[in-house]
Amino acid sequence: SGAVAAGGGGLLAHGWAEAKLDTFGRIDFDTPLAIPPLAESTVDSSGVRIFDLEIQGGQTRFKDGPATDTWGFNRSYLGPTIRAERGESIAFAIGNSLDEATSVHWHGMHLPAVMDGGPHQAVAPGETWTPQWTVNQQAATLWYHPHPHGQTAEHVYRGLAGMFIIDDDASEAVPLPKTYGVDDVPVIVQDRKFDGDNQFDHSSSVLAQLGVTGDDLIVNGTMGAYFEVTTELVRLRLLNGSGARLYHFGFADDRPFSLIGTDGGLLPEAWETNRLLLSPGERAEIVVAFTPGETVELRSYPAEHGGALGRFDGFEDRLDLLQFRAADSLTGGTSIPAAMGSEPDLGSADVVEERSFSLGGDKINGEPMDMDRIDFGVREGTVEVWNVVNDNGYLHNFHVHDVQFQVLTIDGEAPPPHLRGWKDTVLLIPESEYRLALRFSEYTDPNMPYMFHCHFLMHEDAGMMGQFVVLREGEEVGGVPEAVAAH
Ligand code: C2O
Ligand code: CU
Repeated sequence: SGAVAAGGGGLLAHGWAEAKLDTFGRIDFDTPLAIPPLAESTVDSSGVRIFDLEIQGGQTRFKDGPATDTWGFNRSYLGPTIRAERGESIAFAIGNSLDEATSVHWHGMHLPAVMDGGPHQAVAPGETWTPQWTVNQQAATLWYHPHPHGQTAEHVYRGLAGMFIIDDDASEAVPLPKTYGVDDVPVIVQDRKFDGDNQFDHSSSVLAQLGVTGDDLIVNGTMGAYFEVTTELVRLRLLNGSGARLYHFGFADDRPFSLIGTDGGLLPEAWETNRLLLSPGERAEIVVAFTPGETVELRSYPAEHGGALGRFDGFEDRLDLLQFRAADSLTGGTSIPAAMGSEPDLGSADVVEERSFSLGGDKINGEPMDMDRIDFGVREGTVEVWNVVNDNGYLHNFHVHDVQFQVLTIDGEAPPPHLRGWKDTVLLIPESEYRLALRFSEYTDPNMPYMFHCHFLMHEDAGMMGQFVVLREGEEVGGVPEAVAAH
C-alpha cells in the first residue's frame, strides 16, 4: 500500500522540479495510427453472439531498438474493439494463456454482477471464463480491462485494455460520422515509461502519489502516430486509458470541437469547446472539422482548474498526442444533429437513500477494500444520491460499476457542460462535493457485489475501493460465497 502519500506540499514541491519533463515525448508523427480491429464473432443457433478473447503475452515494437514485452487480447498489445447492439445477447469465451490469474471487467456496462469481471471473477491460467448477458443500455463508448484485486494497475499497464462500442437504433439513425476507422476513430490514450532495454518501467517516480506515469504517449498502441483524414467531419472516441494521468485535450490551433457524448452515451445536444479534461477511465466522443490539405495535432494542455489540477496533471507544458493529416479533398455527408441522446433525468426523481463517500489515504470512508466485506445494499428500482468528496488533497476520481450516474451538483452548483451527460467515472477536484444520482435496476444478487472505487489504478489497488449489492425488496445483504472469496 502507500500509493497515496498522506502528506501535502513537500512531496509535490520536491517532485515537481523533476517533473519538468525533459522531453514531451518523441513525437515525430512517422507512424500511421493503429486502429484496433473490430472483434470477430459468431452467432450460435440460439442467436447469441459469441466473441473469443485470449489473454496472452507477446512483444510489441513501439520505438526503435528492442521490442517490448507486453500483454494483449488476441494480439500482443491492447485488444480488438468489441461492438454489439442494444438488445443483443452476447457471450464471451475468454482464455488466459498468462501464467497468472487476471479478470476482464466491462467498464460502464449494466449487467449482472457475476458477469462483471471484477475481482471476484478471476480467470486462472488455462481456464476459460464464459460470461453472457443481454446488452441493455443506450449506445455508448465503453471499454474493457482487467480488475484483479491489487494488480489492476500492473495488468492494464502491460497492455490489457480494449474499447467496447454499443450501438442502438437512435445512434444508427443520427447522421453522425460512423464508419469505424475512417471517420469514427477510437483514440485510446496511454502513457508509458521505458527502461534502457525498451521494457516498460513499472516504478512510480515523479508523481508517485498518483501511480506510474510515463513521458511517452501511446495512442492505440502507436507512438508518434498520424491519422489520414478523408472526411470533413471526424468523430473521435477518446478513452483515457492511463492509470494515473489526466489529459486535457485540445488542438494545436485551438480550433473548437463538439463534445457529443460522455461515458454513458450521446448527449442531448452537442457542446462546443476547445478543451476537454478526462481522468483515468473516462471517455468522450467528440466531432472535429477539417479543411482539405491541412495538418493539425491533438494535444494535452496543462489543466486550468485553479492551482490544484495545474500542478497535478503531470505535464508542465503542452504534449502532442496525434497528428491529423487531411487529404486534398474531403468527403462530406455527415453532420451533428440538433438532438442526439437522452437527457439524464434523475434530478427530479424520488431519492430513497443518501450516502456519503470520502476518499483519502487509500481508503473510502476510512475503510480499505476487503473482498469479503460488502459495504451496503441498494434497492432495485430506486434512486439514491451519493455525496462524494476527495478529502486528502491528492487527485482521485470515482467510478461506479453497473450504472451510469448523473452529476447533480458540484459544491452546490450545476456541473459544467462536459459533466452533464451520463457518467460512470468523474474526476474529484480536491475538497469539492460531488452529488451523484444513481438508479439501480434489474440485476439483483445479495451475495455478488459490484465495485465502486478510485480509477487512479494504483489507488484502487492500494484499497480505495468498496463493494455494494443490488437487492430486491425484502432481501438482505448476503456474504460473498467462500469459493469466490478465496480467489
Ligand atoms: Cu474501469 Cu472497476 O473499473
Ligand atoms: Cu485516487
